[in-house]
Amino acid sequence: MKVPFLTFDLLHQPIKEKVFSCFNEIYDSGFFINSRYVQKFEKEFADYCGRKFAIACSSGLAALHLSTVGLNIGHGDEVICPTNTFAATALAVHYTGATVRFADIDPETLNIDFDSASNLINKNTKAIMAVHMYGNPLDMKTLEQFGIPVIEDAAHAHGAELNGCKAGSFGVFSCFSFFQTKNLGGMSDGGMVLTDDAELAEKVRILHDVGQKSIHDHVMMGYNYRMSEFNAAFLLEKMKMLDKWNGLRRKNASLYNEAFKDHPKIRIQKIFPGAKHVYHLYVICIENRDEIQQKLKEDGIVSVVQYPVPIHRQKPWKSDISLVIAEKSAEEILSLPVFPGIEEKQINYVIERILTHA
Ligand SMILES: Cc1ncc(COP(=O)(O)O)c(C=O)c1O
Repeated sequence: MKVPFLTFDLLHQPIKEKVFSCFNEIYDSGFFINSRYVQKFEKEFADYCGRKFAIACSSGLAALHLSTVGLNIGHGDEVICPTNTFAATALAVHYTGATVRFADIDPETLNIDFDSASNLINKNTKAIMAVHMYGNPLDMKTLEQFGIPVIEDAAHAHGAELNGCKAGSFGVFSCFSFFQTKNLGGMSDGGMVLTDDAELAEKVRILHDVGQKSIHDHVMMGYNYRMSEFNAAFLLEKMKMLDKWNGLRRKNASLYNEAFKDHPKIRIQKIFPGAKHVYHLYVICIENRDEIQQKLKEDGIVSVVQYPVPIHRQKPWKSDISLVIAEKSAEEILSLPVFPGIEEKQINYVIERILTHA
């Protein structure tokens, strides 16, 4: 049996006609950037997350960068960031000239470790990046108790919840990516910044549109981080299905969880009480990961490692700090197919092969 890591058939085919009719309308209108569909998407996504303001932008990295600039972060400042994340979380800080201080991760949740993070706080600390790794919401209350502004990186967590509040509703700013493989994935790069602060929202809106308050009225040094109308129309249509697709991801994950929960050589991701994981990725920690991944490949199963090298060990950051949990986890983590549309018999096959190899 063949098991791909991800296909888009279930997601994209049923909405194709509706999406193409929007594309036709946009094509004929001649308004391709930051117009009617982008505004509608901003409004609906803000409502969905329970936020007052949303600014659609060109990528998740752009959203994170806008948030750091929005908080006036710059040279001499420090931002705490988990080392188990995608490089963009740290890059956004570097763009401002500030320094990233990498924190280790919790071996069970695979999210930031609170002790490691709190040890890094000093007078220069300007923010903490809160990443809900793989779609697993972290304990925001504990993080917020540090008294440091939080930028929520919810790139993996569209629709995830913590005590009934949506990911994207925490922190000073929340940031999303709509990269095509995300739980809500666009037809090109895209992102969103959310906040409840009217002044910060206005600042980010100006920053993302070349520093213009209105056309040709440049009031600050800005960026071109706008979203295309085609992308917004596609994302609006997909958003209607997000909860249903997340439900399928959760159902698929529950089959894996049930099969692996008591296995001596496999660790499943621990979920914080009150959290609703949306399984952007279904990740296990397993001994002899590389060997097992190779055997799965021979069995026709595609698995992925996200991410194989913690950020503090990547070339641009190469530092000699040692973050032992993240470094060990990077050798054990394995993402298994969990996408909406995978068949139950395919999941059972993956489970059966892993239990045989482990
Ligand atoms: C945790 C995390 N943060 C930020 C980003 C950046 O998003 P984008 O690729 O849209 O720039 C990603 C993208 O994969 C991500 O996984």
